[in-house]
Amino acid sequence: MAERGEVRPGEVVIELPAAFDGGVYFIGRIRTPFKTRDDCPKSTARSNAVGQVELDARYAAGLKDLQHYSHAVLLYWMDQARRDLIEQVPAHLGHSRGTFALRSPVRPNPIALAVVEVASIVGTTLTVRNVDCVDGTPLIDIKPYFASTDSFPDAKRP
Ligand SMILES: C[S@@+](CC[C@H](N)C(=O)[O-])C[C@H]1O[C@@H](n2cnc3c(N)ncnc32)[C@H](O)[C@@H]1O
Repeated sequence: MAERGEVRPGEVVIELPAAFDGGVYFIGRIRTPFKTRDDCPKSTARSNAVGQVELDARYAAGLKDLQHYSHAVLLYWMDQARRDLIEQVPAHLGHSRGTFALRSPVRPNPIALAVVEVASIVGTTLTVRNVDCVDGTPLIDIKPYFASTDSFPDAKRP
């Protein structure tokens, strides 16, 4: 996808609404080995990288019982992504695809998700495997991963 202001042939830019409809709290930061977007793996599936989820202390009690889960879903805010492309041409595809048919960080609400293995929880720091974002990316939620309901191994994809 084009980022950093560039629009590729085949990409479609929209005008975003004048005001936001809701707000989010950034509840922490994800620490990773990746200093820039270009350093990042293209997805969690291509990442063995270890990172730390640093949860703000005010949310500490929310971690109670998370240690019983081997994996968690992280939702995070792709703060360096543009938000106004509704069709994109990812370099690996070479043709356009709708934003909602892509895992691109470029979207009206730049929310990313990752299923990560939780290696340890010490205080408000989670050490996790399979991170794919830039160091310092804002965290917006943590949820336990349920293989029984979150996994569809035979799901269709192009
Ligand atoms: C394709 S997205 C996938 C994100 C997430 N795993 C998902 O499926 O929603 C991963 C890419 O986002 C880009 N990226 C990483 N951190 C970012 C950030 N903080 N802001 C904008 N883009 C970011 C990097 O280019 C990285 O390779």
